[in-house]
Amino acid sequence: MYNLIMFGPPGAGKGTQAKIISKRLEIPAISTGEMIRAAIKSETPMGLAAREYTESGRLVPDEVVIGIIKERLTEADCQKGFILDGFPRTIPQAEALAQMGVEITKVISFEVSDEAIVDRMSGRRLCSSCSASYHVKYAPSAVEGKCDSCGAELIIRKDDKPEVVLSRLETYHSETEPLKAFYEKQGVLAIVNGEGEVDKVSESAFKALGVTVD
Ligand code: AP5
Repeated sequence: MYNLIMFGPPGAGKGTQAKIISKRLEIPAISTGEMIRAAIKSETPMGLAAREYTESGRLVPDEVVIGIIKERLTEADCQKGFILDGFPRTIPQAEALAQMGVEITKVISFEVSDEAIVDRMSGRRLCSSCSASYHVKYAPSAVEGKCDSCGAELIIRKDDKPEVVLSRLETYHSETEPLKAFYEKQGVLAIVNGEGEVDKVSESAFKALGVTVD
């Protein structure tokens, strides 16, 4: 059974790799960022409260995201393992996860320089309907501005504006990066070079997990 954490700065490729690993291991990829964006879109009370945090590049309060994850992990599809993408992001979140009785198999930390992050975020495009992710240079859609899967319009995420990206990077370095030492102490941290082509990064991630791919 694999209980995995995709770790790294904003735009490191956590979501991209989580989807690839999810397909191969047949376990769900759970993104707190996607769940928060869906709540913002539907204007739920949680979404309305979260909006000001995400749009300024700050973290949503711990108790909110811990509640979301606690509920999600009780769902049937998590019984055979799961991939957490974007959670935990603070020491209290990691401690809450441990208190839920979750044993982490591996934390894969995708290492990408701040310069490469800024380049990636400036070209990211997101489907306005199904949330599929593209990049104008590295992963373009077949028809410019349209989603390959559902044909809906591609949009730029509000928190991908350059000034918000810089604030997200700062938040990562101050609040989230210390978790690497936390998981290293537990012997579950695997460092993977997140730069280079998507396939190469996946190859390194599978190697770190000891999983063979055809
Ligand atoms: P979230 O959605 O988790 O954002 P993030 O961590 O900043 O990560 P991203 O989704 O931006 O990037 P990613 O690493 O998944 O990269 P991706 O694969 O998309 O969170 C958003 C906000 O929600 C947070 O700022 C916070 O406010 C809140 N939040 C979420 N979780 C929280 C928590 N636990 N606690 C508190 N608040 C929380 O790739 C990026 C781009 O690069 C794409 O265009 C992709 O096509 C491209 N790309 C991917 N891999 C490669 C590659 N190898 N080479 C070239 N391009 C690539």
